[in-house]
Amino acid sequence: MSSGNLKVAVIGGDGTGPEVAAEGLKVLKAVAKLEGIQLETKDFDLGGERYLKTGEILPPDVFNELKTYPAILLGAVGHPGVAPGILEKGLLLELRFKLDQYINLRPVKLFPGVETPLAGKGPKDIDFVVVRENTEDMYVGMGGFLKKGTPDEVAMQTAVYTRKGCERCIRWAFNYTRKRNQKKRLTLVAKTNVLTYGHDLWWRTFQEVAKEYPDIQTDYNHVDACCMWMVKNPEHYDVIVTTNMFGDIITDLAGILQGGMGVAAGGNINPDAGGVSMFEPMGGSAPKYTGTGMINPIAAINAAGMLLEQSGYDKAAARVNKAIQTVTGTKMKSQAAGKMGYTTSQVGDLVCEAL
Ligand code: IPM
Ligand code: MN
Repeated sequence: MSSGNLKVAVIGGDGTGPEVAAEGLKVLKAVAKLEGIQLETKDFDLGGERYLKTGEILPPDVFNELKTYPAILLGAVGHPGVAPGILEKGLLLELRFKLDQYINLRPVKLFPGVETPLAGKGPKDIDFVVVRENTEDMYVGMGGFLKKGTPDEVAMQTAVYTRKGCERCIRWAFNYTRKRNQKKRLTLVAKTNVLTYGHDLWWRTFQEVAKEYPDIQTDYNHVDACCMWMVKNPEHYDVIVTTNMFGDIITDLAGILQGGMGVAAGGNINPDAGGVSMFEPMGGSAPKYTGTGMINPIAAINAAGMLLEQSGYDKAAARVNKAIQTVTGTKMKSQAAGKMGYTTSQVGDLVCEAL
C-alpha cells in the first residue's frame, strides 16, 4: 500500500511520554506526506495528571472512542504522584486486555552507531524479534490472599494459559517468521521441565502448529538458557515466541542488547479484522527528564515505524527504519538521555530530514 487513510489515536501519557510521542507523530506526519497517506490523528488526555485531577483512568466514553482508531501511539505510563501499578494496570494492561491485543511484538535490532554492552557483537549479530503472548499468564490478575496480614498468610497468583490463547500467538509467530524471511527459525521459549502443565500446553501446541509450516525450522530453549544464549550468541535467534511473563523479562534483557530503553519499541497487536493495535516506546515515563529536551525519541519514532508496518504501509515503515539508522549511524553521539548531541526535538527533525 502506498496511499490510503490512517487514523491514529495519540496517548502522550505521563512524564516524558508526550515529548517522545510528539516526535513519533512528527515523523509519522512527514512520511505520510511523502507517501501520500491521508493521516488523521487525535490526542487523548489520559494518564497520571488526569487521574490525580478527576480520579478517571480510562472512562468508558474515552475507551469507546479509542476503539474507533485502528492504531494508537502511546508515549508512556507512570506518574511519581500515583502509586505503582494503578496506571499500569488501569490503563496499559486494561487497553491490552480489553482490546485483545494478544501479540506483544518486540523487534531487537542493533542499529548502526548504537552501543551494545555485548563485547565483540555488532548490528549483524543482534537482529531478532520476540513475539510475546500479551493477554494471559500471571498477568490476568487471578488469585487472592488467605489470612492476609497474619503469620499464616497465603498468597496465590495463577498463571492462566488457554489452548486458544497460545495457539493464536504461536500461529502468528510462525506466519511472522515466514514473512520476515531471514533465518526462518522460530524458537519457543518456556520452562517445560518445571511448568509441566501450562508449558506442556504451549509445547504440544507449538509442535502441532509447526506441522503447517514445514519451511520454518523449529527450536526450543528453556527461559533460563535463553537468557544465557541471548548474551553469548544473540546471532542464533531469528524469531522467539514466548509466554507473557517470560516475554516481559527477556525483552528487557533484549532491550539493553539493542542499545537500551531509548531505542527499544514494542507493538501490542490485535491482528484480527477490525482490531485496534497500540505501539509504544519501552523507555517508561522517565519523570526526571520531563521538559528538559534530553530524552531520546528514537524508541517512539521506532514505534511509529512499527505502527506503519502493522497498518500495511510497508514502504513508509521501511523509510522510517532507514532514516532512523542514518541518524543513529551518522549523527547521534549516544543513545543515552542528555548525551545524544541533540535535543529530543532535533533528533525528530533529523529523522524527518533523512526520510
Ligand atoms: C512492559 C512493561 C509492562 C509489562 C508493565 C509496565 C505493566 O514492563 O510493557 O514490558 O509488564 O508488560
Ligand atoms: Mn516489561
